[in-house]
Amino acid sequence: MDTTIELTVDGQRRQLTVDTRTTLLDALRERLAVTSPKKGCDHGQCGSCTVLLDGRRHLTCLALAVAFDGSEVVTAEGLATDDALHHVQEAFLEHDGYQCGYCTPGQVCSAVGVLDEAKQGHPSHVTEDLEADVELTDDEIRERMSGNLCRCGAYPGILAAVKAAVGA
Ligand code: FES
Ligand code: FES
Repeated sequence: MDTTIELTVDGQRRQLTVDTRTTLLDALRERLAVTSPKKGCDHGQCGSCTVLLDGRRHLTCLALAVAFDGSEVVTAEGLATDDALHHVQEAFLEHDGYQCGYCTPGQVCSAVGVLDEAKQGHPSHVTEDLEADVELTDDEIRERMSGNLCRCGAYPGILAAVKAAVGA
């Protein structure tokens, strides 16, 4: 069965008709030619398809596009403005947070989500004091970014980049 939906993708209103079984990742990549979110595992295990969906990081390979009719999608590409990179993107560049770059769009979107979640006081599995403000220690960053795998092993640079972006 086909359904027509609307999405705002990186600031642009887009309308498309999709089979109701279409994932958000396939809708973005195959139908709208938005290729910043990458298809790694297609099973919710690698994080390369992460975008910000209505402000929160989300795996798009496990999301059905029709469930997000009317939503706002921001990909790593949409984080930059015409003349400036997002400060998390700058930090990845500065701290060598990538090698082949395949995982990078998902890592960047996740990092933006992590900074926001910490600012809002969301605890993680390793947060000890649930009453205190969240401090993004190395362990907190590693835990919160653990859903994003990097086949090149650029983790030291990714950690350094997220640390540098805290408070920026
Ligand atoms: S492609 Fe979505 S988590 Fe791997
Ligand atoms: S930089 Fe190659 S997969 Fe992460």
